[in-house]
Amino acid sequence: MIQFKSNLNIKNEQTNLVVGVFSDLSHEIINQLDKSLNKRLSSSLKERLMPTKLGDITPIYPLGQIESKKVYIVGLGQSSQFTVEKCRQTFGKIAKSVKDDVTILLETFDCKEVSINELAMICSEAITLATYKMKTYKTEQKSTEPTNFFIHCDTEITEDLNRGIVYGEATNSARQLLNEPGNKLTATDLANTIAKFANENELEVRIVEKDEMEQLGMGGILGVNRGSVEPPKMIVVKYQGTPRFENVTALVGKGLTFDTGGYCLKPRAGMEAMKGDMGGAASAFGAFQIAVRLKLPVNLLLVIPSTDNMISGDAIKPGDILTTMSGKTVEVTNTDAEGRLILADGITFAKHLGASKIIDLATLTGAIVAALGSETTGAFTNNDAFFAEFQKAADSTNEYIWQMPLFPRDQKSLRNSDVADLNNAPVGKPGAIMAAAFLKEFVEDTPWIHLDIAGTADAKAAHDLGPKGGTGVMVRTIARYLEQQA
Ligand code: BES
Ligand code: MG
Ligand code: ZN
Repeated sequence: MIQFKSNLNIKNEQTNLVVGVFSDLSHEIINQLDKSLNKRLSSSLKERLMPTKLGDITPIYPLGQIESKKVYIVGLGQSSQFTVEKCRQTFGKIAKSVKDDVTILLETFDCKEVSINELAMICSEAITLATYKMKTYKTEQKSTEPTNFFIHCDTEITEDLNRGIVYGEATNSARQLLNEPGNKLTATDLANTIAKFANENELEVRIVEKDEMEQLGMGGILGVNRGSVEPPKMIVVKYQGTPRFENVTALVGKGLTFDTGGYCLKPRAGMEAMKGDMGGAASAFGAFQIAVRLKLPVNLLLVIPSTDNMISGDAIKPGDILTTMSGKTVEVTNTDAEGRLILADGITFAKHLGASKIIDLATLTGAIVAALGSETTGAFTNNDAFFAEFQKAADSTNEYIWQMPLFPRDQKSLRNSDVADLNNAPVGKPGAIMAAAFLKEFVEDTPWIHLDIAGTADAKAAHDLGPKGGTGVMVRTIARYLEQQA
């Protein structure tokens, strides 16, 4: 629980206190606390008994001088070096390390780089993210009392705290979906989860089933689904935040619930990670939830093509030719390049439904991981102005994106098939770029950003803002972008 606390009496406060200390400046409230502690705080700081290096968290024990049993002194380093990003990480670290209920003295973290309102949002967002725990299927669950976080400052910040909580919770929901294994989250389960949210919020939802896909000619997703006993789903939810449904942003997410590679089978080692191949869908849905919960004045289409990529006597084989919803034919030279096949139909469908702009997200290529690693999302666009706006949003959420090139010659490489319009995986060409170029064939002139999150959707180790596993990457950035547009 995270809650605003307007009145605070330092001497009589029952919860533990969390105080930020810069090495070079002191806030009024610290002076108050110091007085109550008979100057022990300032003297130990002066004698350098207390570290104020960024990230140091030192508990001190007032032993009855004030009622709090513990005061956490959080080093913030030099105020001129403090950034929003460091601030997020520090709140994450605090949330992970404190025990029992705490009151955070928010003003002590203020270094004038951001407003107190923004600081409040960052604080509640970071706490929500850092305290996320993956739901497991262990039969014996450890029951731990959740910590209550009270945030004190003199300004009314309830609304900012709530915004941060919404951002954090939506990101956590994306994390949880990614963490679910392939047998617990099928396309049907994903459709049910999304439909439930849509119904609860009285939004128009449409689940395109296999028969209708056949009528609509969605040969891309149908092709990928052929090897599966699980029915495919094309999930669409509409959110209208302005009087007219215009200037519509489509969020198209790859919802591949498990990627074996198909007949171009993946190696055994690490295959279990392919339960996360619906990370794009999870993040698109997360961002969509924020827009809905904050009632942003924007118009959205959430479009999620979903299936798994399996093997059977009926599965697609290398060399098979599929006709996508757009009418374009594809030679499947590699059955493991399946994400682009389902996204192709998702993108075409989004355009049919009136998308004026498209953001797609997908755990699309191993090549982007080789290029950018696990902390930077690869971004591609056909519209520099759109991308510049999006970059601004990423800068403010501290999610890293890096623009990758996409030249006309890359489109040419895709059109090298002897038998179809496109080749889904040209050999000897740059993998992440080929995947993006493939999608662009379906996007055409609609302003578009493609986010390849193969490296960033799933953290290999715990970090300040969460555990290992699903990250919900780009949820916050997309939501921030939408807020900028509103
Ligand atoms: N889902 C994978 C991409 C992936 C790799 C996601 C690593 C997360 C971590 C995708 O469907 C895939 O298999 N891509 C192939 C494409 C290739 C066959 C052209 C790849 O990147 O190897
Ligand atoms: Mg694959
Ligand atoms: Zn895949």
